[in-house]
Amino acid sequence: TLRWTGVKERTFIAVKPDGVQRKRVGEIVQRFEKKGFKLVGFKLLKASKDLLREHYWEHRNRPFYNRLVTYMSSGPVVAMVWQGQDVVKTGRDMMGKTNPIDSMPGTFRGDFCVEMGRNVIHGSDSVESAQREISLWFKESELCDREVCSNNWIYD
Ligand code: TYD
Ligand code: MG
Repeated sequence: TLRWTGVKERTFIAVKPDGVQRKRVGEIVQRFEKKGFKLVGFKLLKASKDLLREHYWEHRNRPFYNRLVTYMSSGPVVAMVWQGQDVVKTGRDMMGKTNPIDSMPGTFRGDFCVEMGRNVIHGSDSVESAQREISLWFKESELCDREVCSNNWIYD
C-alpha cells in the first residue's frame, strides 16, 4: 500500500570469514532484528573466487583487489538480505566506516575489529548496488517475503 512505500527496500549484508570465525553472526543478526528490519534471505557458504571477483568488480584495478578476494574466499561467509525502510543507508551506518579506526563505537566495525583487511562485515553502498549484489548472491526463490505482514508494529 501507499502507506508503506519504502518498506520493501533491500540490502545485501555479508558476515565476512573473520566475522564467522570470531562468532559475530548472532550479534549482527540480532542487531538488525532489534532495529526492526526483516530477514528475507540467509545462507552460509564458501564463496568462489569468481563470485567474489564479480562482487568486488568496482575495485578490480585497486592494489588490494586480489588480497580482498583471497581473504573473502578463505572461509565461509554468511550472506543475508535485509528489508525495511532506508535499510541500505541504515545498514551502512550500523556497519561503521571502511576502516575500523574511523568507525565509532556502537558500529560493527567500531566494536569488532581493528584492521581494514579484516573488517568483519559487508553492506551494500546504494540501492542500485544492493539490487546487483542480491541478484548475484541469491536466486529469487531463495528470498522469503510472503508470510503474513506484521508491519503495524514497526511502521506508523
Ligand atoms: P570498499 O567498498 O571501499 O569499502 P566498504 O566495505 O566499506 O564498502 O572496499 C571493499 C573492501 O575492500 C573493504 O571492506 C575492505 C577492503 N579494502 C582494503 O583492504 N583496502 C582499502 O584501501 C580499501 C579502500 C578497501
Ligand atoms: Mg563497498
